[in-house]
Amino acid sequence: MCEINGISVKDIIKEHGSPLYLYDAEYIRRQYKKLTEEFSEFKHRIHYAMKANENPAILYIIKDLGGGIDAVSPYEIDRALNLGFQQSDIVFTPSCTSVNELVYGIEVGVNVHIGAVEYFPLLGDRLKDKCIGLRLNPSIDIKGNKKIATAHSNSKFGIPLRDLNKVKKYQDKYGFKVKGLHIHTGSNVKDVDDLNKSVAVLFDVVSQFEGVEYIDIGSGLKIKYRTGDGEIDLEKYAAHIKSKLYSLNKDIEIKIEPGKFLVGNAGYLFTSVNIVKKGYEKTFVGVDSGFNHLIRPMYYDAYHEIENVSNPGGEIEVYDVVGQLCEEDTFARDRQLNKVRVGDVLMIKSAGAYGFSMAMDYNLRKKPKELLIDRGNIMLI
Ligand code: LLP
Repeated sequence: MCEINGISVKDIIKEHGSPLYLYDAEYIRRQYKKLTEEFSEFKHRIHYAMKANENPAILYIIKDLGGGIDAVSPYEIDRALNLGFQQSDIVFTPSCTSVNELVYGIEVGVNVHIGAVEYFPLLGDRLKDKCIGLRLNPSIDIKGNKKIATAHSNSKFGIPLRDLNKVKKYQDKYGFKVKGLHIHTGSNVKDVDDLNKSVAVLFDVVSQFEGVEYIDIGSGLKIKYRTGDGEIDLEKYAAHIKSKLYSLNKDIEIKIEPGKFLVGNAGYLFTSVNIVKKGYEKTFVGVDSGFNHLIRPMYYDAYHEIENVSNPGGEIEVYDVVGQLCEEDTFARDRQLNKVRVGDVLMIKSAGAYGFSMAMDYNLRKKPKELLIDRGNIMLI
């Protein structure tokens, strides 16, 4: 059976049962370091998108590394503050939220990003002398999964560029300062040139507002979900940002909000085989999990590699891997796996981001346990 960081998966499952999520702390640190190294030539700050995985143990790792937080709800803000992040460490970019939540963010003192001009009259005088950020919609159609593209002209996210004049009028009326400009192009963006196009839009807008201190480029950093997949070309991305900063020639900090880049491939979902059953044509492997634990395959048609860690030498056979929910609950179709038997443990990879954080208790099934492997220790988190 396979090992993760020198610890046998068999022993882990024996002790903790299944299904369970397992995260590798060292992987997160390596990814963080990779990003800071690539961005080392300009002033930058990493704000981990905690929606990807909000487990406190993961947030502590980010905090120890010196990172900040990208929050999207008051609950995320509160968790970050309770764990010791400072207000200035947190950017708050909610989407279509209530005015009350924006007021909360402003009053608590985090960096609030406003994504619609329609909020300004509703916030009114509460904006007086406040510093805020603007989330813009650059109207860019990207290559990749449409369900996670957020910067195209029909997306609900961000302020259309044509509304920047209105922002200025509201600025005069209510007396706030625009301190930051933000975009988030989408998740797992295939082509770094699409990210570059979005970033270029932000740089074009900077001169329209006096006193911009940071540009928040969101995320979209592509990760490998399957063998042969490309990853974000960080070198090209950093070079583009650097050249833009050079032309701008202002003291601007770059903020970046990676979620899946830091934790996606740090996590695994282990699930045990309940049954192997033959249908008319297919052979189904029924496991003790489902989209209640990892919704990505069903919701985004996302591909997650799966290994039968109990029988690595077994003959290759073709299966549909299905969950135990009362739904057409499917992790993988026509997937080649080493021969699967009842009781075998399957490892579903790349499950560290938007796995547990999107889990639910549908059919009243419990969420899995989460474990962290760090420096040879294994901890229930
Ligand atoms: N910043 C903002 C404003 C975001 O909305 C997101 C993700 C991120 C940063 C982090 O993006 P990442 O580095 O993880 O790509 N549940 C989907 C992804 C939805 C992402 C939502 N926003 C998935 O499982 O692929």
